Amino acid sequence: MRILVIGSGGREHALTWKLRESLRMEEIYCAPGNAGIAQEAECVPVDTAKPGALLELANWLRADLTVVGPEAPLVAGIVDDFERAGRPIVGPSKAAARLEGSKIFAKEFMTRHGIPTARCAIAESYSQAIEALAAFRWPLVIKADGLAAGKGVVIAANPDEAVRALDDFMQRKILGEAGERVVIEECLTGSEMSFIVLTDGQGVVELAPTQDHKRLLDGDAGPNTGGMGAYSDDAILNLAGRNEIMARVVRPTLKGLAAEGIHYRGFLYCGLMMTAEGPQVLEYNVRLGDPETQPIMMRLRSDLVELLLATRDGTLASREAHWTPNPAVCVVLASAGYPAAPETGREITGYESAEGLGGVKVFHAGTRVEDHKLLTAGGRVMGVTASSEDLASAIQRAYSAAEKIHFEGVQYRHDIAKHGLENRAPKPGGTLPVTPNHRGYPAAKVPPV
Ligand code: AMP
Ligand code: GLY
Repeated sequence: MRILVIGSGGREHALTWKLRESLRMEEIYCAPGNAGIAQEAECVPVDTAKPGALLELANWLRADLTVVGPEAPLVAGIVDDFERAGRPIVGPSKAAARLEGSKIFAKEFMTRHGIPTARCAIAESYSQAIEALAAFRWPLVIKADGLAAGKGVVIAANPDEAVRALDDFMQRKILGEAGERVVIEECLTGSEMSFIVLTDGQGVVELAPTQDHKRLLDGDAGPNTGGMGAYSDDAILNLAGRNEIMARVVRPTLKGLAAEGIHYRGFLYCGLMMTAEGPQVLEYNVRLGDPETQPIMMRLRSDLVELLLATRDGTLASREAHWTPNPAVCVVLASAGYPAAPETGREITGYESAEGLGGVKVFHAGTRVEDHKLLTAGGRVMGVTASSEDLASAIQRAYSAAEKIHFEGVQYRHDIAKHGLENRAPKPGGTLPVTPNHRGYPAAKVPPV
């Protein structure tokens, strides 16, 4: 089996690392990859913004399966291109990828199908947007319609901040076309969770639940980022909670897509706020999360190639994924200046001794090699990921490893997964119940909708 992975982040490194374990694997390629992926797969420098070139590469490699990491090629329609050419790929079509590519499409879709989400207004012009503000309490949330690489959501505490965001998006057009239309929505409170499934449209395999840490600084302060760390632990969500999400969000989403003639195949990421009224969808992503994929892959026991082949073949309903009960924690090391203007080209040392600690894997993101030196090459540089028997020791392991890695200006959060330690008893009026001792994460038995 020849597999091609598309992308260059920590997510793609974790995917490649896991795919390589499969007995079905013969050759694995990544386009374009990074310095860490290059140790596990053959990297080919093809730009992910060029779907035509990626199809040419997959044809040339005679890839039996292509797996797409980032959203941009999916939203651009890479899956349709591959399918037209008869080249196997796992991912949603261009029509299905609108769930991530257009926040307006996603909100209207959720309204049409009764999927719980924040109350919103859609504004096609600046004057409509200003007018719509009056219908919400402060703070409110302003979202650019299109893809904005994590820069398209502003939580505005007061009218000044809201007007500034609308000026930026709709008048100064700092995000280009992506910000020409906006969603304005109520601000939800609760705890956030990333609930990701793999589906062939009918069968659904739930991935282990994860929590991301989107803000740059400890205590959820500072600007939003792509994600400064994530962890996965069964205690994030018990069986009743998973069943509720499947019944209220995942199944209605798949049913709604099917009713609209859209066949969904691939990973579907539901970004949820767990509110006192139950789960509410903050966003859909039509792919795996980054960094969520790092702890997920560390916990996955099943053969990922088998699961992806079943997705390709439409036989996922007969599959289950098996997980180690051990929690996994990923701490992202980022460059100075991230997320606004990351400094790159700094030498990285100590990563080998970090991996020398048992139960640790360092997934590379923005790294490259020059003159036999490992250098930083992006905002998020590495995801130091550790697994252990309990969450406290997984956290400790991840931080012991992170401390061994050095580059000038390195920044990372010191509180990744820490609230998971406090989250072990139900909070009054808070999130869905958690199961302190739940172990083993069996596949949920969910009645079809
Ligand atoms: P999104 O890209 O829609 O997930 O938004 C990015 C981040 O903004 C989310 O992960 C949340 O932290 C925050 N966010 C988005 N929508 C809301 C909302 N309605 N209420 C509170 N926070 C939100
Ligand atoms: N970590 C959030 C995302 O992948 O969108």
